[in-house]
Order: sequence, then structure tokens, then C-alpha cells
Amino acid sequence: MTKRSVVIGVGHYLPERVVPNAEFEKTLDTSDEWIRSRSGIERRHFAAEDESTSDLATHAAQAALADAGIEADDIDAIILATSTADLTFPSAATMVQARLGMTTGFAFDVQAVCAGFIYALSNANAMILSGQAKRVMVIGAETFSRIMDWTDRSTCVLFGDGAGALILEGQEGSGTAQDRGILAVDLNSDGRYKDLLYVDGGVSTGTSGYLRMQGNQVFRHAVEKLAKTAETALERAGLGADDLDWIVPHQANIRIIQGTARKMGLSMDKVVVTVQDHGNTSAASIPLALSVGKARGQIKQGDLVVTEAIGGGLAWGAVVLRW
Ligand code: UT7
Repeated sequence: MTKRSVVIGVGHYLPERVVPNAEFEKTLDTSDEWIRSRSGIERRHFAAEDESTSDLATHAAQAALADAGIEADDIDAIILATSTADLTFPSAATMVQARLGMTTGFAFDVQAVCAGFIYALSNANAMILSGQAKRVMVIGAETFSRIMDWTDRSTCVLFGDGAGALILEGQEGSGTAQDRGILAVDLNSDGRYKDLLYVDGGVSTGTSGYLRMQGNQVFRHAVEKLAKTAETALERAGLGADDLDWIVPHQANIRIIQGTARKMGLSMDKVVVTVQDHGNTSAASIPLALSVGKARGQIKQGDLVVTEAIGGGLAWGAVVLRW
């Protein structure tokens, strides 16, 4: 028998305010046509002024608990992937823990920017496999609207706010790739690329700062690294791209998503795509896409899924799991 971390619940939350591309035409030298054709984005959600990352995360967590049919006290841990926590500390995860009324267990944030959810899944899986936790809530939540420079057309049209959550539970498997649950993980980072994507604020500046990105450079790395990390994770699971039912990629740019699928020899009808509706929600994009993909009837129990992401750091990685 082999222990596996199996998804028992999923949920998401998107703030009410939807902002179509045309809105940016009023203040910037840009167009709906440029944003759509270069990124695939048509609209995104922005949090209300009084809504924070932990608020979004709490809603997504509650939806995942309802989906799993369990209570907050049935969870041992919360791991929240975010780069836009409400405060420098404490973690947004502990704020969610309190809001859920969970008084036992432990909660912490993981920060690996757009790859954050992959890193959080990897942490949760390791804790479950080591016996440190039985059920872990893994959340990706962001309010990137708070770190946008609204005068920079090359970045502010690309990002959005949202949250998604998965609940993983340790279950006994057979040890084969037919098991449900996480089958393999691949994580990477390379800090030499810090200047390609960063926020120019923090404790060293006394400001929260704004996102800065050399988009075309990040694009180049994304196309090269995403297919490779997905293939590495598949290989670790003893599987190949042909075995996949779904790729659930980080939703940054439709051209990156298409390029990765092409490199892996897969057609776009095996890809869950939400970038048109959410924009790039960083660590929230994968759990949002998993939740929306399930709600659309795309991802079903037993399906083999690879999920992959790259972002600031650079940090990137992939997780192979059977839903
Ligand atoms: O999630 C974390 C990882 N992030 C990503 O994966 C993002 C990766 N990068 C991208 O998605 C793309 O590089 C972008 C969508 C950001 C940009 O697309 P691109 O095809 O790489 O365009 P570019 O940056 O090379 O810019 C092309 C032109 C430039 O004008 P010139 O220099 O050719 O005259 C930009 O100034 O497009 C211009 N431009 C815009 N024009 C209209 C940049 N932003 C805009 C805009 N509207 N919003």
C-alpha cells in the first residue's frame, strides 16, 4: 500500500466586479484588440476596496469544504499560496484559519509567485505522505490589483484577483499510476532571473510597491520551461503526455498555453482555459481553473491531470495527479 494525497473537495471565489478590456482604453494607449490578441484576456475580476486576499481565500475555502462535505475542524492544516497577503505578517493563512473558526492544526503561507500553488501542493503532499497531516486545505489567493502600476500598460491589463482551494486527504493507494491523488511533482527555481518579474517594494523600501515585468523575456522562459517540467513530472509518475486527460496550466497568456500544449503534442481540447475570463491571477489561477474545469464538467473523477506554472523568481514546476 502507498499513501496518496487525494482531492476530496474544490471551490473558488471571484470578486463581484468584472472589468472588460475596453475599460483600459479610457485611461491608457491600449485596445481590447491588442490585449485579446497578445494575451487572450477579455476581462478580469477586481476585488472591492474593502476586500482582501484573506477574504477571497476564505470564500474559496468555504466552497471547498462544502464540496467535500466536511467542516473546518476536520482539516489539519491550511497552506495558502499568495504574493499579496493582507499584511507583511501574520500569514493570510492564519487569518483564513480564524475566519473558518478552525482552532486546531496549523496554517502558513507559501510565496512562489505564479508557481505558488504548485509549491503549496508539493508541501501539502509531503506533509500528508510523512504523516504530519491527514487533510490539508491548499489555497491560492491573490489581489494583484493592489500591486498594479495603473500607468504601465504592459502589465496592468494582464492581471486579476481571485481565489481557489483544494482539499487533499491521505488515502491508501496501490502504488501504481492508476491511483487517485498526486502521483508526481517537479519544482524548480533560478534566482538569477529576479529582474524579469518582481515587485519594487517591500520592507527594504517601506512601500508595498508595484509589479515590474519584462514580459517578452518571461514569455521566452515560459514556453521553454513549462512543457519540460510537465514532462519531467509525468516521467516521474511513469506516464507520458499521451496518458493525459487534461492540462490545467497557469493562466497567464493564451499563446503560452497553446505553445506548451503544442510542445507536448496535445491538442487544445485537452486544455482547461480560463484566462479569457480571469486574466492572470498568479497563485490563484490553477485552483481557479481546476474548480471551473470541474464545474464545467471537463475534469471528472479518475481523469489524469497535469498542472504547471512559472512566475517571478523565476520559479516553476508541475504536479501530476489523478482527480
Ligand atoms: O504569470 C507570471 C508569468 N508572466 C507571464 O507569463 C507573462 C509573459 N509575457 C506575456 O504574456 C507577453 O510577453 C505580454 C502579453 C506581456 C506582451 O506580449 P508580447 O507579444 O511579448 O509583446 P511585447 O512586450 O514584445 O510588446 C510589443 C509591443 C511593444 O511596442 P513596441 O516596442 O513594439 O513599439 C509594447 O510597447 O506592444 C506594446 N504594448 C502594448 N500596446 C498596446 C505593451 N503593452 C501594450 C498594451 N497595449 N497594453
